[in-house]
Amino acid sequence: EKAGYDHFMLKEIYEQPKAYRDTMLGRIADDNKSVFLKELTMTAEYIKSIRKVHIVACGTAYHAGLVGKSVIESLARIPAENDVASEYRYRSPIITPDTLVIVVSQSGETADTLAALREAKRSGARVLAITNVVGSSVAREADDVIVTWAGPEIAVASTKAYTSQLIAFYLFGLHLAGVLGTQEQSAVEELIAGLHQLPEQVESILEQSAVLKQVAESISHHKSLFFIGRGVDYAVAQEGSLKLKEISYIHSEAYAAGELKHGTLALIEEGIPVIALITQEALYEKTLSNIKEVKARGAHVLGIANAGFETEAAKSVDELFTIPKTLPLLTPALSVLPLQLISYYASLALGHDVDKPRNLAKSVTVE
Ligand code: F6R
Repeated sequence: EKAGYDHFMLKEIYEQPKAYRDTMLGRIADDNKSVFLKELTMTAEYIKSIRKVHIVACGTAYHAGLVGKSVIESLARIPAENDVASEYRYRSPIITPDTLVIVVSQSGETADTLAALREAKRSGARVLAITNVVGSSVAREADDVIVTWAGPEIAVASTKAYTSQLIAFYLFGLHLAGVLGTQEQSAVEELIAGLHQLPEQVESILEQSAVLKQVAESISHHKSLFFIGRGVDYAVAQEGSLKLKEISYIHSEAYAAGELKHGTLALIEEGIPVIALITQEALYEKTLSNIKEVKARGAHVLGIANAGFETEAAKSVDELFTIPKTLPLLTPALSVLPLQLISYYASLALGHDVDKPRNLAKSVTVE
């Protein structure tokens, strides 16, 4: 059932091009000019009344929501906030009828996420669920559902569910933009063209897994490392760090690149690996200056940059992994791939049970 792969996680990493295609299927107009989520029951009138969005989830799904916030704010210009589901109810969130609450859950059974959904409904908000399981509790109780068509995810570490959640956010952001008229038609078409290119671009990253295996093997000798980035790169850094901790048991922290000098820089010592995401053109110079700060303290930096910046970036890092060029907002759907593979190969190098890491369960049904 692993279809020739050594582990479910690797199989699921390689299923991502298909998961992207399946999640987009039937949701983009044939002329590639608009996105239409026919499954949504929310009306255009309702969409026009949304004043804020709360995105609530746990773990990896929470990290997908961090990207989702950027997507919704930039495409629909509606303010969005992220909450970890286990914190949401207890901070007396201000949920009003013009709040759209989006819960993100692969399994659709996570207890904290389900509790947050119920709290949101009690407060009179509409709830949209992004989930991978059609008949799940979250899907049944939400007002609207966007199903991610990633297929069953068996490995405890989430990979294809995360990236399908990103696709769902891109589609929903474009759906909102279509109703609200917040984007130029040309920008919408550019994003749709960018979405269509992603599966092949993912394939081209997967073809370079041998390089990432080497990186992972050298990382596996270290006790601690850092992931840094700005903007959506910071969101992806957090996911990369979680994935590595979860299956390789190597300690790591994800930092907004500009925050390092406010304390964490004290931990940078000779030889420590730093994985720097450098995919955002507008933030490029700033991130490079943060890379210089860690390099000056002896860090060994692996840069993950967009094709187009690679010549410049190469000068500032010790090693460079290039991802194909896409629109800034879409980069997380590519830049997370090398991080997933590094985690996988680090876990493998250390002889851990990749698919069933210690202390963890696939579905967390206790609060
Ligand atoms: C990490 C991971 C977890 C889940 C989290 C939420 O790889 O899989 O962090 O993302 O437990 O699970 P769902 O999405 O099923 O609500």
